[in-house]
Amino acid sequence: MKIALLGYGTVGRGVDRIIRERVPDVEVTRILELPDRLSDPRMTASFDEILADDAVELVVECMGGIEPAHTYIASALRSGRHVVTSNKAVVAAHLAEFAALAHAAGVGLYLEAAVGGGVPWIAGIEKVRRVDDVTSFSGIMNGTTNYIVDAMRKERADFAEVLAEAQRLGYAERDPSADIDGVDVRNKTIISASVAFDVACEKDLPTSGIRNLTLADLELFSAHGRTVKLLGRGVAGNGRYAAAVEPVAVAASSLEAAVPSNFNLLTLDGTTVGELRFYGQGAGSLPTGNAIVQDVLDCVTGARRPVYDFSRALAYDPSLLRSDYVLRTTAALDGEPYGPGALLVRDLTAEGARALLDEALASDPTTFMAALPRED
Ligand SMILES: NC(=O)c1ccc[n+]([C@@H]2O[C@H](COP(=O)([O-])OP(=O)(O)OC[C@H]3O[C@@H](n4cnc5c(N)ncnc54)[C@H](OP(=O)(O)O)[C@@H]3O)[C@@H](O)[C@H]2O)c1
Repeated sequence: MKIALLGYGTVGRGVDRIIRERVPDVEVTRILELPDRLSDPRMTASFDEILADDAVELVVECMGGIEPAHTYIASALRSGRHVVTSNKAVVAAHLAEFAALAHAAGVGLYLEAAVGGGVPWIAGIEKVRRVDDVTSFSGIMNGTTNYIVDAMRKERADFAEVLAEAQRLGYAERDPSADIDGVDVRNKTIISASVAFDVACEKDLPTSGIRNLTLADLELFSAHGRTVKLLGRGVAGNGRYAAAVEPVAVAASSLEAAVPSNFNLLTLDGTTVGELRFYGQGAGSLPTGNAIVQDVLDCVTGARRPVYDFSRALAYDPSLLRSDYVLRTTAALDGEPYGPGALLVRDLTAEGARALLDEALASDPTTFMAALPRED
């Protein structure tokens, strides 16, 4: 099969290399690149030229961003090309539209690399769903923030110091907001909920991040036998679902607590399979390239043709996700003492907790909040 790559950065180069070295049945014949970087005969700066090439049967989008990625993916699907993408931002924003276009054109839409990098999470959910309902999922879905928390804990270093080191190593962007404020995890949670629950997931999920996490916070939770992980979570049942992104004070003995460096750990619960966990490299040129190539091969061989049908119409009900919460803040809030400067507030929805965090941040901009799971 002849394919086109849109974008030739970290992921695009990984895809090109893996296909060249390991996949003889697939050939990258076209690459969309910016006009000042056309260094390979396969490269063009014109998407229309790629669209007009009838030999191209599949388009891999790994440019990132919303536009023009959205327009290019929609055009490729309309033109009868299969699409594989690693771009979680555009998928989270437009999955229902892409799914409808793919269905109408009778082509495949493959998203594996958009969540969990090299970890076969999306295909794993789809396989589980052939038999089971997925009743809940949760995951460490962002390697950058996991790296930061892990290094803070192990090196007894503060947030700013570790973030600077992560930026130096290339684990964190120069503007780290999408990672540390939970936006990247929200996109991955929207996609995971859509695939797991067959629903065009609510976009405005309660979201908080680790921007205000301090070493003293980690030490406080450590004294309670816990550590902090930024988790995307979703739950569904009785025709309803909820999802949220927030730091969670997980038990120090949990598998989540043991996840090192920039690795991902994604967990789901299925009706008959029970708990399943997926662990691996959530980013990087070759792991993410591998996930894309797996999708390409599923398409070429016909082994997997995902169909996203959002007609199940589950109702979004934030009351399904409830936890106790710990807030370290100087804001005057009602709650039980949890440690120096910290309060425990019982039984809030994720949405209620986000509202309480906003209230606390208004008087203490350094406030940090984490959910305290009630089941352990
Ligand atoms: N890196 C990872 O480990 C990873 C893992 C999972 C998913 N992803 C996702 O995969 C996508 C790509 O990530 P990446 O890390 O490979 O990003 P990247 O290194 O920035 O590569 C994207 C490339 O596409 C180029 N580009 C942007 N707009 C273009 C356009 N209109 N025409 C042609 N080229 C264009 C960029 O050029 P400029 O840089 O000059 O803009 C850049 O060279 C993103 O959606 C990302 O979220 C990445």
